[in-house]
Amino acid sequence: MALIPKETIEEIRSRSNIIDVITAYVPELRRRGGTHKCCCPFHKEKTPSFTVNDERQIYHCFGCGAGGDVFRFVMEYEKVDFVGAVQLLADRVGVEVVFEGGRREDQGGKEVLLKLQAEAAAYYHRILMQGKEGEAARRYLQERDLPVEMMKAFQIGFAPDEWEGLLSRALKKGYEAADLEKAGLAVPSERGGKQSHYDRFRGRVMFPICDPMGRVIGFSGRIMNRADRGAKYVNSPETLIFKKSQVLFAFDQARKAIVERRQAIIVEGQIDAIRCHQAGLTHVAASQGTALTEQHARLIKRYADEVVLVFDADAAGVKAALATSLLFTTEELSVRVATLPEKEDPDSLIRDHGVEALDVLLNEAPGALAYLIEQQQAAEDQTTEAGRLRVVKAVLAFIRPVRSATRRDTLLQEASDRLNLSVSALYQDLKQNTKPVMRKPVESETPASPAKAVVFPKEETELLELLVHHHSVVQPWIKQYLPSRFFQDPACRTLVESLMEQEPDFLAQHLNEFEEELRQCLTRVQIGLSKTFDSEISEDALAQKYILLFWQRELERELSGREATQALSSAERYIHQTRLKQDLGLLKAGWDKAVLMIESRLQPLSDGTV
Ligand code: CTP
Ligand code: MN
Repeated sequence: MALIPKETIEEIRSRSNIIDVITAYVPELRRRGGTHKCCCPFHKEKTPSFTVNDERQIYHCFGCGAGGDVFRFVMEYEKVDFVGAVQLLADRVGVEVVFEGGRREDQGGKEVLLKLQAEAAAYYHRILMQGKEGEAARRYLQERDLPVEMMKAFQIGFAPDEWEGLLSRALKKGYEAADLEKAGLAVPSERGGKQSHYDRFRGRVMFPICDPMGRVIGFSGRIMNRADRGAKYVNSPETLIFKKSQVLFAFDQARKAIVERRQAIIVEGQIDAIRCHQAGLTHVAASQGTALTEQHARLIKRYADEVVLVFDADAAGVKAALATSLLFTTEELSVRVATLPEKEDPDSLIRDHGVEALDVLLNEAPGALAYLIEQQQAAEDQTTEAGRLRVVKAVLAFIRPVRSATRRDTLLQEASDRLNLSVSALYQDLKQNTKPVMRKPVESETPASPAKAVVFPKEETELLELLVHHHSVVQPWIKQYLPSRFFQDPACRTLVESLMEQEPDFLAQHLNEFEEELRQCLTRVQIGLSKTFDSEISEDALAQKYILLFWQRELERELSGREATQALSSAERYIHQTRLKQDLGLLKAGWDKAVLMIESRLQPLSDGTV
């Protein structure tokens, strides 16, 4: 575990109300009776089974079993580790996290890679800002009108044209060449049978690419002159921490503005994104020229309801815009598409015509369906029936994968208006060609959360609920009269044992150290009381009722089982069984009679029998 002082963690916890935190991610969370509910963000569902309890500061989903405290929620939602979640929440409430001396334990080598990326970014940035080797790059960026504040804000850098500029420095600092290779910063080579490495990035302006938390995970490096050798851009390869299909450039810096406006703008290039931020358009991130993916959609969807895609006017741009709007719409993001004037990108547009020009484009950007129809109608001959039908077909293909019936309906209505066809005709065709659209299984969607809710035995959860909610009354009863081995479910058994030693609040604070099943079990019983307990019966009486029930279960099991009596003679077995039957009778005769029997059975050594 990382060495964040316990007090810091508790300070952050106490300032991070779970309702506020979850609402920031899932605005649909609504108060319902004593708890808050919404559809679970960790699995697909139509009726809300995701429950958050304000008083206890925990959440639990009855559908998929996800559950935990505020840190756990952030871990699962943001797909970060515990320390990452602590840091995110710390930022949110303005607490500074100071690690206690010593290094964090590494998780699969990610830590080293992150440190190396950070060091590399600092090194490139230093060279750009101060180094002699950075002079030409400084001039280049100045010529492109990128002011120093922007170089600093995005930690832009310059990789000197050397084979071992970064490598030799990193080795001196104690890193190994293999680490730099894993980080994508060095490339292995073999010369004369000897293994060596050299810098991947040489003579390039460097744009650090960050994860949503602002940690550098990779780079994009641009040459300065068309005449220079090599590709215009060299990017980090895929590494343990850098997955191009999941990351958006500048997303970390845009996130706050995206949340506030519930809207994200996606442009293609790094420089475009930086230029937008410079012009005050801060909810902008860049796809970095690659195809946008489902993971991108999910990332954006955590913070925004709508995306505006900014694409080139050329054929490739149109194709990408159509593919992306289909993908994003299927992921239930609203999409609009802004088309740039020919030969312009957001960078040049802002520079030549001001940010207002881009604003107009963004405001007037048509919705995805309108855009699709426009494009299709322009591409097909609208004077022929075949041409018109092809447009309809494309429209239906766009609407079909949308899962929400309401959204499908809205889109059909819009299509009907725009194509001048009846909704019912479109609807019939929509159904007719329906081969069930199989959604691709989404890998890595929620690696940390369980696929399915574990079903815990009813009576055991009920008693645990009673115990958790009325600990001071119920704990002594159980401690005295109910051996934990009577709990059949291992997680329930472990939990009841822990609750004999600790307060429920103490356990809740340590939720993140529990194993999956135990955590599910604890959040499940903490989240609310069963209807069973609404009655007038006192907690003492309820505890007694369950103790009798568990004893009855136990004795009945013993009566029907053979194993324990195999070693007995038939006479002994007869006596054993008769006694079990008698005791079962006592259990039904009420607490006062039963308790004497229970006590005698709990003191096996005093009368010599088991
Ligand atoms: N890109 C890339 N590799 C390339 C070309 C482009 O990774 N060979 C990515 C970069 O992220 C780039 C984006 O695609 O920012 C858009 O490409 P382009 O329009 O060519 O670059 P700009 O960002 O406009 O670069 P500049 O304005 O500096 O020419
Ligand atoms: Mn450009």
